[in-house]
Amino acid sequence: MKALVLAGGSGTRLRPITHTSAKQLVPVANKPVLFYGLEAIAETGIREVGLVVGDTQAEIESAVGDGSAFGLRVTYLRQEAPLGLAHAVLIARDFLGDEDFVMYLGDNFIVGGITDLVDTFARTRPAAQILLTKVGDPRQFGVAELDLEGRVVGLEEKPARPKSDLALVGVYLFSPAVHAAVAELRPSWRGELEITDAIQWLIEADLQVESTLISGYWKDTGNVTDMLEVNRLVLESLEPRVDGLVDDSSELVGRVVVEPGAVVERSRVVGPVIVGAGTRVQDSYVGPFTSVGADCVVAGSEIEYSIVLPRASITGVGRIESSLIGHDVEVTASLNTPKAHRLVLGDHSKVQIGT
Ligand code: TTP
Repeated sequence: MKALVLAGGSGTRLRPITHTSAKQLVPVANKPVLFYGLEAIAETGIREVGLVVGDTQAEIESAVGDGSAFGLRVTYLRQEAPLGLAHAVLIARDFLGDEDFVMYLGDNFIVGGITDLVDTFARTRPAAQILLTKVGDPRQFGVAELDLEGRVVGLEEKPARPKSDLALVGVYLFSPAVHAAVAELRPSWRGELEITDAIQWLIEADLQVESTLISGYWKDTGNVTDMLEVNRLVLESLEPRVDGLVDDSSELVGRVVVEPGAVVERSRVVGPVIVGAGTRVQDSYVGPFTSVGADCVVAGSEIEYSIVLPRASITGVGRIESSLIGHDVEVTASLNTPKAHRLVLGDHSKVQIGT
């Protein structure tokens, strides 16, 4: 069995971060979200991974390399444009050959791994097996309709009137039967080849499509709110560790990791928090569920429930909350009078200023 991991796409919901970097590399507890997926795949015993990439190929390649760090062999498959999840299967045809495969969306986060699922699929070998989870508002998801036996009878992409509250999770298992379906597809109204249409094709061809309801936690980290929520969840099981320097005037409370080369001075850090390698925290408060990346500065500031990417600096500002702060960003206090907000923001930035 092989794996097909999707790490292309346009990432519009995570702009402006995705103007300059891949959304699959946004860190959760200071580790790219994509790495959690690759680890889950390695755990199943699968070795061959096709990694579908787009414009951010160079960045993803430099992070993942040949996959050996995960115990995997990674082949890069370039998708010229984000033409849909089923289009990714189409361009991976040669790589996949006639083997079964698991398709994993590179920005999805699943707790508990996929080993049991892969084992069940390998034993029962339906044409396809999808994962479902109950959601509050199914209209933003692919939604499945099941018959009384739990067999999938229909799928719809982001329906206005959902037939159930069961949303598709971003992990799919396929037999090679899916290739015939994908080859027949026409682009949907949004111009993409939809994987839901491919699965619907299998159902209509009377092939067996099974579903599994996952009880564990799942999130698509495509937007900031979900990204922060996944970060919170992962930080909750952080093993405290101090490999950097913490001075006597500082206090660490709860689960806090201070990476090598990091310095915490005259500050209060209330976990779960991770302070990245080489980062300086001075005269500051860092509150629960915050991941500060490597080589950042947090000075004379307060920050909580946030993700800060490498080399950002936050100095002399009041409280920052529920924020995703990109690489090399500078947030500083304005010392001039009148006290005004002076902003240099990239396209599609979102700022909320307390008044
Ligand atoms: P999505 O989050 O559905 O799409 P997107 O990346 O275009 O994001 P947005 O909706 O914010 O514009 O994609 C799920 C995953 O699949 C993600 O890791 C990107 C990847 N993907 C591809 O590799 N190729 C594609 O053609 C598409 C649509 C997505």
